[in-house]
Amino acid sequence: MSRILNRSRVSKKSEKIEDPPAEKALLGEEIFLDQALRPSRWNDYIGQKNIKENLRILLTAAGERKHPPEHLLFYGPAGLGKTTLAHLIAKEIGAQIKVTSGPAIEKVGDLASVLTNLSPGDVLFIDEVHRLNKAIEEILYPAMESGKLDIIIGKGPSARTIQLELPPFTLIAATTRIALLSSPLRSRFGGGVFRLEFYTPEEIEEIIKRSAKILGVEVEKTASKEIAKRSRFTPRTANYLLKRCRDFAQIQRGVLDMQTVEKALELLGVDALGLQPSDRALLSTIIEKFGGGPVGLNTLSAALSEEQSTIEEVHEPYLLQLGLIERTARGRTATPKAFEHLNGIKRTLL
Ligand code: ADE
Repeated sequence: MSRILNRSRVSKKSEKIEDPPAEKALLGEEIFLDQALRPSRWNDYIGQKNIKENLRILLTAAGERKHPPEHLLFYGPAGLGKTTLAHLIAKEIGAQIKVTSGPAIEKVGDLASVLTNLSPGDVLFIDEVHRLNKAIEEILYPAMESGKLDIIIGKGPSARTIQLELPPFTLIAATTRIALLSSPLRSRFGGGVFRLEFYTPEEIEEIIKRSAKILGVEVEKTASKEIAKRSRFTPRTANYLLKRCRDFAQIQRGVLDMQTVEKALELLGVDALGLQPSDRALLSTIIEKFGGGPVGLNTLSAALSEEQSTIEEVHEPYLLQLGLIERTARGRTATPKAFEHLNGIKRTLL
């Protein structure tokens, strides 16, 4: 069961923990900070109003019927709070949450082990569900639909199928790539398929305010506005930038004001639109190497030495949202706004 991480295991204090190397210790601290910043009550979860309202009705109705909520699918760009929603749902219904992910479930036996270890009413959270392979999807269908697990024992003519009855459970799955899910899988999320939206700058500012309070750092109003503006409409990025600006202010023995934000983010290479060096590399490759496009994903990926999935999942959602690129049948093109933005940066560097 080492692939499954559940909350009780994470918080077990009696486990012997060896001294990590320095960089791991730092990383560890960041992980705990991120945990502390994650909302653990609905009232602290800012934004995604429509999803929250739908979930409130779904969970209340299921609770009144004394039945676990139906299976749910969340999709949308990374960092918008899909995992956080799964944890909030589990907490709301008083269920234990077991967490795993598509790439962690390599074999049919891995999923069988996860499912047979569920207790009645558990929430099973599968992140990156688009990375489950077809054979595993096939055994997931009956498990989702009728709580049955079909296991084939043996091989060849003597092979036989046994059917195990699973306890009632709620599957919550998350993906950044809804288009990669087969339609039979999609259709089995009876509780609903919800798309998380980018946050508004006002919502991001509110998240920054809340996080600053938890971190015990005072942030001037203009500074939090500026961090929000460069946060890609994404809470995870907002919290990351806030932490880096806090470091900068601490080292400079200064307050976290507008000037600190500008200096800290310049050092990180985060520009006024929130683009990072790798986003700008993508834009300038389309513009300078491919005359503004259209250029196919394959070619772009080779030119940038960047995985296609990283381009599609990390860079493109935000660049599309800002209107800096367009996706056409013949490939990606840079828009006039992208030309303008990169020219503006070049001018300030001259
Ligand atoms: N941190 C990450 N997502 C958040 C959200 N939606 N509300 C508040 N804090 C968050």
